[in-house]
Order: sequence, then C-alpha cells, then structure tokens
Amino acid sequence: MMRIGVLASGRGSNLQALIKEWQEGRLAGDIVAVGSDNPQALALKRAEEAGIPHKGFPRSSYTSRQEQEQAILNWLQEQKVELLVLAGFMRVLSEEFLREFQKPVLNIHPSLLPAFPGLDAQRQALEYGVKVSGCTVHFVDEGLDSGPIILQEAVPVLPEDTEESLSNRILEVEHRLYPQAVNLVASGKVVRKGRIVEIS
Ligand code: GRF
Repeated sequence: MMRIGVLASGRGSNLQALIKEWQEGRLAGDIVAVGSDNPQALALKRAEEAGIPHKGFPRSSYTSRQEQEQAILNWLQEQKVELLVLAGFMRVLSEEFLREFQKPVLNIHPSLLPAFPGLDAQRQALEYGVKVSGCTVHFVDEGLDSGPIILQEAVPVLPEDTEESLSNRILEVEHRLYPQAVNLVASGKVVRKGRIVEIS
C-alpha cells in the first residue's frame, strides 16, 4: 500500500473525504501523515480523531519560509511518504521542495483549469460570468495551479449563485473526484507524458 501524506491549511473537508474512503477500505493507500502550516487547522483535529500522525509547522517557529518548508519536507520523508496530497494547502511549494521530495504531489483546485488559477477561484468564475465551472485534480509543478491535469469535472453556474452556493456545489464533486484521482495514481494507473496524463 502506498504511503500517503496530506498537507492542509484549513477546514480539511477534502482530507475528511479521503479519511472516510480509507476507513471504509476503498483507498489504494494508507494516510500516514497530515501536516499543516496552520496549527489551528481543523484538518489537524480531523487527523487526530482518525489516529493519523499529524503536525503543525507555524511560520513563527522558523526564521524563514524556506526553513519552514524544509521542516515539512524532512517530516514527510521521516514518515516515508510516497505520495503527497495537497488539500487546501495555502502555500506554493518551491522548486527545491519538489526536486528534493521526488515523489508525486497532487492538488485539487476549485475551477476548470487553466481558467481561474490562484485564490478565490469560485469568485473569479462568478465575476467572469462563466456558465460552467468545476474542479481539477492535477500534478503539482513549480507554477501556480499549472501542473498536468489528471481529472476534471464540471458543474453548472446558476444565475442565482453566490460564492458560497457555487463553492458548495463544486465541493461536493471535489469530495468524490479527489479520492478517485488519488486511487488512480496510487494504483499506478496514471502515466505522465509531459503535460498529458494518460489513465489506463
Ligand atoms: C477546496 O475548495 C480546494 O479545492 C481548494 O481549497 C479548498 C479546501 O477545502 N484547494 P477543504 O479544506 O478541503 O475543506
């Protein structure tokens, strides 16, 4: 079974969806580590309740962002993480981190990339006036929400939508799509050919 690590900064509902799949025996791996840059994150509490090793890495404990990131990397390596899943992790991992870590890193983003990368993707979609949005699971590269796309699913944008109603509609899909993508990668069904991801 693949050893899965998760990094999350906040609420951790995607982490919870992965924990549920794992506890019900449907995850092609074990969640062995949950880390956060925010010691207050609900995600850490969820990990604790599930009995998963977890750790906060507050910026204030380190002299630089680089040092903070290095501490996270060291810990993930100590836990022998083989696949890293970002679930609402609000930091962009540096090129050095990715080069040193050498294992696949996944992210989920609440838009149909390459539309609306970065913060507040749902608000960006509403302000732009698109009629369809959704979510994207992708490999993480050194850019912002720019890595090769693994899975995407669309949801409608309705005339009466608020940021909250659209976010909730997307989130429901996220909770199904992310475990699915993690399973595909963890069971070796995903091949990267440059930007193109093939799924067998
Ligand atoms: C999700 O919308 C995800 O797409 C984005 O951050 C949010 C995290 O939510 N990357 P949660 O912490 O998993 O509840």
